[in-house]
Amino acid sequence: MKYGHFDDSAREYVITRPDTPLPWINYLGCEAYFGLISNTAGGYSFYKDARLRRLTRYRYNNAPYDMGGRYIYLRDNADHKFWSPSWMPVRSDLDEYTCRHGMGYTIIRSVSHRIEAETRYFVPIGENLEIWELTLTNKRAKTADISAFSAVEFCLWDALDDSTNFQRNFSTGQVELVDEVIYHKTEYRERRDHFAYFACSEKLVGFDTQREAFLGAYRGWDSPAAVEAGESSNSMANGWQPIGAHHIKVQLMAGESRKIVFILGYHENPRDAKFDPPGSQTINKKTVKPIIAKYTQLKNVDAAFIALHDYWTELLGKLQVNTPDEHTNRMVNIWNAYQCMITFNISRSASYFESGIGRGMGFRDSNQDLLGFVHMIPERARERILDLAATLLKNGGAFHQYQPLTKRGNNDVGSGFNDDPAWLVLAVAAYLKETGDWEILEMPVQYENEAGSETPLYEHLQRSLQYTLDRLGPNELPLIGRADWNDCLNLNCFSDTPGQSFQTTTNKDGTVAESVFIAGLFVLVAKEMVAIAGHKADSGEAAKMQLAAAQMEATVWKSGWDGGWFRRAYDDFGHVLGSKENTEGQIFIEPQGICIWAGLGVEDGRAQKALDSVAKYLATPHGIVLQQPAFSRYYLHLGEISSYPPGYKENAGIFCHTNPWIMIAETKVGRGDQAFDYYMRINPSKREGISELHKCEPYVYPQMIAGKDAPAHGEAKNSWLSGTAAMNFVAITQAILGIQPQYDGLEIKPIIPSGWQGFDVVRYFRGVRYEISVSRKGTGNKVLLEVDGKPISGTIIPLPARDVKILKVIAYIG
Ligand code: GLC
Ligand code: GLC
Repeated sequence: MKYGHFDDSAREYVITRPDTPLPWINYLGCEAYFGLISNTAGGYSFYKDARLRRLTRYRYNNAPYDMGGRYIYLRDNADHKFWSPSWMPVRSDLDEYTCRHGMGYTIIRSVSHRIEAETRYFVPIGENLEIWELTLTNKRAKTADISAFSAVEFCLWDALDDSTNFQRNFSTGQVELVDEVIYHKTEYRERRDHFAYFACSEKLVGFDTQREAFLGAYRGWDSPAAVEAGESSNSMANGWQPIGAHHIKVQLMAGESRKIVFILGYHENPRDAKFDPPGSQTINKKTVKPIIAKYTQLKNVDAAFIALHDYWTELLGKLQVNTPDEHTNRMVNIWNAYQCMITFNISRSASYFESGIGRGMGFRDSNQDLLGFVHMIPERARERILDLAATLLKNGGAFHQYQPLTKRGNNDVGSGFNDDPAWLVLAVAAYLKETGDWEILEMPVQYENEAGSETPLYEHLQRSLQYTLDRLGPNELPLIGRADWNDCLNLNCFSDTPGQSFQTTTNKDGTVAESVFIAGLFVLVAKEMVAIAGHKADSGEAAKMQLAAAQMEATVWKSGWDGGWFRRAYDDFGHVLGSKENTEGQIFIEPQGICIWAGLGVEDGRAQKALDSVAKYLATPHGIVLQQPAFSRYYLHLGEISSYPPGYKENAGIFCHTNPWIMIAETKVGRGDQAFDYYMRINPSKREGISELHKCEPYVYPQMIAGKDAPAHGEAKNSWLSGTAAMNFVAITQAILGIQPQYDGLEIKPIIPSGWQGFDVVRYFRGVRYEISVSRKGTGNKVLLEVDGKPISGTIIPLPARDVKILKVIAYIG
C-alpha cells in the first residue's frame, strides 16, 4: 500500500493522506540554519547544532506522534469552527490534503470548510531563517471572515537543559514585542549574543508569547483557548514557556486568494553592540530589521524560492543518469543525492529517531558521508576534511565524535574506536580523486585542536594508518578497541551493570580482541595511500604501505578466513567469532563486504565463495542481515550486539549501511545481476508499494530494516541519518554504473545487469561535462571506450586539455 507518489519532474514526493504509518519528514536548510518538518508540519529548527542552538521545542516519542511544530490554525469567525490546515495538531478531517516534500522545502496544501490553505516552508539560501508562506483561497460563493493563528514554542537554546532543568528554566524566559515582531531573547541578558524572531507580513489583531495564555491551562495544542475564542490575549512571557503566536484576520471575497508570510529566524549581534540604546536591556535590532523587511515582501520570497530551486538543479545536475530502471533513476538523480546532503550536514544528530541532544558528528560517519557528497560541493567537503583531521589525536587515533558548533573533539565519548582513523584516509582519497586538489595534503592541520601542533594533512594520513599498525593483536590482526564499524561489537566491555554505556565502558586492557573488519579496511585504505604517496613521489611511504597491505592481507588469509567466508573477530579470550566453530554469530556481513572491496580473494575464487555464503545465509527479500544465527541471549563478552532482540539493529537486523558493501563486492567479482538485485531489495522507491510494512519514508534510506529473526521482518526504522545514503550512492554510481573518479581521470567500468542494453550519464568532473553513453554488445563486462569518436585504451579517460569543457564518451560493454 502507498500513502502518496513520486513526482519526479518536480523532484517531489507527494503524500496524499496525513496519517502515514510514521511521520514522514523532510529537512529545511542546507547550510547553517536547519529544520526538520513532517508531513503534518511537526518538527523543529536549530542553528548549526541541534543540541546547543535549538530554536523551537519538539516532544519526542509523544502520544499522539509528532508534537511540536510549525503550526497554523484557521478559524471561521462566523461559525467559530477551527482546524489545522496541516491536519496536526487539531486533527479534524480535511476535505483535501497533500504534502509535497521537495529539495529543501515542503508544501502542505489542504481544503477544509471550503477554505484552501497552502503553506510553503523553506529556508532561503544564505539566510538563517525559515519562511512559511501561507496562501489562503476562499472557495465559497460568499465572503469568508477568517482568523489565522501561527504558533511556535521556543526552546531555551540548549535542548538538553531545556527538557530537564525546569527549576531554572521556568524563570528565565524573556521576549520582546516590537513593531509586531516577536523576539525570543532568553539568556540574551547574560552570555548569549543571539536571539530568535518570529515576524508576520500582516498587521496583527493580537498575539501571544506565553504558552498557557495561548493554550489555556490543562489544554493542548489541539485546542488552544485563544483559537477557540478567536481572541489572543497579548500575553508577554516572563519565565514559564515562551511561545510565538500571531493572530491575524482576513476577509476573503468569493474566490479571493491572499498570501501571508511568517518568518522564523536566528540572529547574532556583536557582543559590544547587543543592546540599543547601549546600557539598556533592549535587543539591538539594527541588523535584523532589514532582513525582516526583505522577507516580509512577497516578491523576495518568490525570488528566494526560485534561487533554492536553481541551487538544487545545479547540485543534482553534477550527476544525472538515465537507466532502464525508474527506481534507480529516481534515487540517483534526486533522493539519494539529496539524502547525502542531509547526512553530510546533520550526520547522526537530529532526525525523528535521533533527538539532537545525544550525539555530535561521528568521525567515521562524517568521513563516510563525504563519499556521497564530495561531487556536489567539493569546497565544503574540503572544509569538513580539515575539521575532522584537526580532531585527530597525536597518536593517529581519533575522537569518535565532534561538536559541530565548536568543531572540537568530544571528550565524553573520547577515542579508542580503532577503525575511526582509517576512514579519514578513504575520505581524503575520494576528495583527491574528485578534485585533483593535491594541495590539500600540504595544509597545516592541528592535532586534538591544539594550536602549535600543526603538521601537513598528509602526515595525518600517515599517522592514521600507523595507528592500526601500532595496535596488532596475538594473531597480528588489528586490535578492535572499543568497537570497529559495528559500534555494538564491544569485545572489551564486559558490562554487567544496567545503563552503562557499551561504547565507553572498557573493562579489559584491549590487547587481545581483534577485528578482521579493520584488517580489510586497512588493506583498502593502505592501497589508497600507496597511490597518494606515489603521486607525491614519496616512494618510501608508498613502499611501506604496499608491504603493510600485503602483510595484512596475508594475515587475513591466515587467521581471518574460515574456509567459506571471512571471519569477524577474535574476542578477549582469543576465541574466534564469525566462524563455523561458533553456534551463534557464525557469519557476519561486514568482513565479506570490506575484504572483497579491498580486493581480497577476487582473483582466486575465494571472494565468490564468501559472496555465495552471504547469499545463502544472510540475504533475505528485504535486504541482507548483519549476521546469522542471531544472538539468542546476552553475551557478556560481546557487548551491545547481543543486547538487542534477534533481528533488530546490529543483532541480525538488515543494517542497510552494510548492504552496499556487498553490492560493491559483487561488482568486484563481475556479478552485475547479483549486485543490482541487492541494490533493489533495499531501494526505498522500490519498497514504496509495501509502505504499510516498511513504515518509513519511501524516498530515503533508513538505518535498519528488521531481519528475518524479528516478528516484523521488513519493517524499517531510523530513517534519514545513516551511512546507507553515501554508501549506496557509491555502490550504484561507482560500482554498478561504474562511473568512478580516479586520481588521473574518470573511469568508466560498468558492472550492470545482463538484461540492461545500456544507459546514459551526464557527469561533471573537474569542470568538464562528460556525456556518457553505455551500450551492451555482449554478455560480459569488458569495456571499450570511445572519447569524442576516438577509441582509447583502458577504462580511464585521461583528463582533457584545459579548454575542453565537454567530452562525449561511448562505452561498449560485452
Ligand atoms: C550505533 C548503533 C546503536 C548504538 C550506538 C552507540 O548507532 O546502531 O545501536 O547504541 O551506535 O553509539
Ligand atoms: C550507527 C553509527 C555508525 C556505526 C553503525 C553500526 O549508524 O552511527 O557509526 O558504524 O551504527 O554500529
